Amino acid sequence: MAAHFWSLAWLLSFLTYAHCDLYQVNDQIGVGRRFDGIGGLSGGSATSKLLIAYPDQQRNEILDYLFKPKFGASLQILKVEIGGDAQASDATEASHMHVEWEENYQRGYEWWLMKEAKKRNPNIQLYGLPWAFPGWLGHGTQNPYYDRQKLANYIYKWIWGAKVYHNLTIDYIGIWNEQNCDLQYIMVLRDILDRNGFMNTKIVATDSWWSAISDIELYAEVTAAVDALGVHYPGVLSPDSAINSGKQLWSSEDYSSFNDEVGGGCWARILNQNYVKGLMTSTIAWNLIDSFYQALPWDRDSLMTAREPVEWQLYSHTTQLSEIGWRYLPHDHGVGMLNQGGSYVTLVSPDLSHLTIVIEAMSHNHSLCIRPKLPWYTVTTQNVTFVLTGSFSKISQLFIWQSTLTFNGTTPTYFKSLGTVPVINGQVTIIIQPDQIISLTTLNDATHGEYLQPPPSAPFPLPFIENFEDYPVSSEPYTMAPQQGSYDVVDVGGEHGKVMRQMVLQTPIAWCSGTLNYNGTLNVVGSFNWTDITISTDILLGGVNASDGAFIGVRINNGGCTTYAAMGLFFFTYPNDGRFSLTSDVLGKNVIVSGRESGVIVPGWNTLTLSVKGTVATGICNGVELFSVLVPSFPANGFAGVGTDIYGYADFDNIQITNAADPSASKKKSKALYFQKESHDVSA
Ligand SMILES: *[C@@H]1O[C@H](CO)[C@@H](O)[C@H](O)[C@H]1NC(C)=O
Ligand SMILES: *[C@@H]1O[C@H](CO)[C@@H](O)[C@H](O)[C@H]1NC(C)=O
Ligand SMILES: *[C@@H]1O[C@H](CO)[C@@H](O)[C@H](O)[C@H]1NC(C)=O
Ligand SMILES: *[C@@H]1O[C@H](CO)[C@@H](O)[C@H](O)[C@H]1NC(C)=O
Ligand SMILES: *[C@@H]1O[C@H](CO)[C@@H](O)[C@H](O)[C@H]1NC(C)=O
Ligand SMILES: *[C@@H]1O[C@H](CO)[C@@H](O)[C@H](O)[C@H]1NC(C)=O
Ligand SMILES: *[C@@H]1O[C@H](CO)[C@@H](O)[C@H](O)[C@H]1NC(C)=O
Repeated sequence: MAAHFWSLAWLLSFLTYAHCDLYQVNDQIGVGRRFDGIGGLSGGSATSKLLIAYPDQQRNEILDYLFKPKFGASLQILKVEIGGDAQASDATEASHMHVEWEENYQRGYEWWLMKEAKKRNPNIQLYGLPWAFPGWLGHGTQNPYYDRQKLANYIYKWIWGAKVYHNLTIDYIGIWNEQNCDLQYIMVLRDILDRNGFMNTKIVATDSWWSAISDIELYAEVTAAVDALGVHYPGVLSPDSAINSGKQLWSSEDYSSFNDEVGGGCWARILNQNYVKGLMTSTIAWNLIDSFYQALPWDRDSLMTAREPVEWQLYSHTTQLSEIGWRYLPHDHGVGMLNQGGSYVTLVSPDLSHLTIVIEAMSHNHSLCIRPKLPWYTVTTQNVTFVLTGSFSKISQLFIWQSTLTFNGTTPTYFKSLGTVPVINGQVTIIIQPDQIISLTTLNDATHGEYLQPPPSAPFPLPFIENFEDYPVSSEPYTMAPQQGSYDVVDVGGEHGKVMRQMVLQTPIAWCSGTLNYNGTLNVVGSFNWTDITISTDILLGGVNASDGAFIGVRINNGGCTTYAAMGLFFFTYPNDGRFSLTSDVLGKNVIVSGRESGVIVPGWNTLTLSVKGTVATGICNGVELFSVLVPSFPANGFAGVGTDIYGYADFDNIQITNAADPSASKKKSKALYFQKESHDVSA
């Protein structure tokens, strides 16, 4: 009896052990949820700012890596910011309605990016979300829901403008990024979209946290108006209430991790486990591409950096081997965790003729995301056998693709084809090591797309000379990165022709409240490493709703949500009364020198020059030197820039920036120089 007991126990443990590494893949109990695609987020904010300025060839290659199907990242969703004229991380993005009495669908670069994405993949889904709003929507408050009808109309206008001016269909629309979600507004928005023929534009709510989303589930009519529940940084988990809501669940912003191999590990792990553990059927990375000036916040927390395509390859395992509308298989029938660490998901085509299994074995320390904290687990090398039955029993071979991340200086491999593996008696076995990703698929059309090495990085070129004549009206100058305010190219005719105008007239509804500490604007350009710089600019403050004062600056050491704390050297001028000042802060409080020269600083256009060399700053207006003073040694370096002391119109033209040590003002046009010579690294 005892002997039998032991042998039975032994047999059971053996069977269990053998069973452990067998994973069933079948449609016996049907299929699981619909796969909604993997995406990248441009904006939140201005993360793609400089991409449009790249030379054609590199720009096209980057766009191919991101969007071309069966090539690189092959993204299935492009989410973009609906500009709100306010800062949300790395620069402001322009609103299509700076003020209530106008609308314009040519601003910024998101329209352009969406068109480039669609050109490469007509099936890519587009998703718009606001971070901030122009102030008029709040009637002087910081509440965008002050007049829900007005807000819904504003958002509807953006969707309408996309269609009418750019032939772009917006598939998904969000509410307010990571902020208060007004449930009644969701209904108003749904209603206005339906009444205007945009029934097919789906609503994702709330683009925040599960705790906020649970409010939606309390009201059936709100739930009905929402198509997907979108959460941010869920740490691969969803609450039962969300799972049982009957809605598609999305990780509508995730990743945000430095794009080295650990970031790659994070991405591979969450792409699988957001479904395995959280039943989330879409994952969208913030952010799509790091094309903003280095030294601004969140450097390289991107799927790709403009200067080094680090990570696109990891995408291919899912995106090249699936389509939106495919289904996941049910848990334990093709989806689950691996016994020795890691996870697997199976995606199948709607007619069940194609199947892709993505297996990841990311180790803990090599797959940390920026947030949330990742509980400890271990991964070891393991043999994994998939048992294909049901509709998949006739599959005789699978194509195999592998990536291996390395952390010891060995070159990693990304999305490498290993040919095919046979399926014998319905079984296929692979060996997977820690930090590997393997896809098994019936599809034979994936590729490891690759272009030649991009040109090496180069510093931002000097001299920089910009007269804005080559820009289309309403565009945002490519290399000027507004940290507060919004700047459009405007044609004023006459001698000045096209100029750059600050357009924001009142405090926007903020995304980051820090921006409320400063009710003026700042637009930076160039390199954070600039030290001895001369900047010269024509400035006009005049007419209705104009700003009181404007400035030019150098050694500007801050941007993003803490622009108000920017230090540097700022030369302010107030043409209405002839005042000027040099301050060491953007707020204009720490005055180094000031004065009044009504005979020199005149109403109308003024030409201002600020030249800083070592510890001496010289200020000139219309050819007359106003000061030459000793300045603080901190900050020793920073961007150049222009700005206004309050929100209000101000025109800037003929910006010239030179090395103060070599002030030979070249007549060469800098934009041409920028486009042709400045190839990959616009930020270095
Ligand atoms: C608009 O886009 C659709 C595809 O979404 C295309 O079929 C159509 O030709 C486009 N129309 C124009 C005028 O470009
Ligand atoms: C993981 O990282 C932690 C913290 O840095 C370290 O203590 C631990 O040794 C690492 N474990 C492995 C297996 O690398
Ligand atoms: C995997 O299988 C091979 C061949 O059957 C065997 O030699 C190896 O030890 C197995 N590895 C593990 C980790 O089980
Ligand atoms: C580095 O790691 C890879 C896989 O993680 C391994 O194959 C390789 O042998 C290691 N190289 C060295 C020099 O340790
Ligand atoms: C800027 O304007 C906003 C909105 O009017 C206001 O709440 C805030 O206090 C102002 N900030 C400063 C520094 O004046
Ligand atoms: C100036 O602002 C007021 C509202 O503040 C607006 O009614 C008027 O149209 C504006 N004028 C111009 C020229 O922008
Ligand atoms: C500034 O200089 C440092 C040190 O040389 C370099 O690492 C960094 O990339 C430079 N940054 C920019 C924005 O050029």
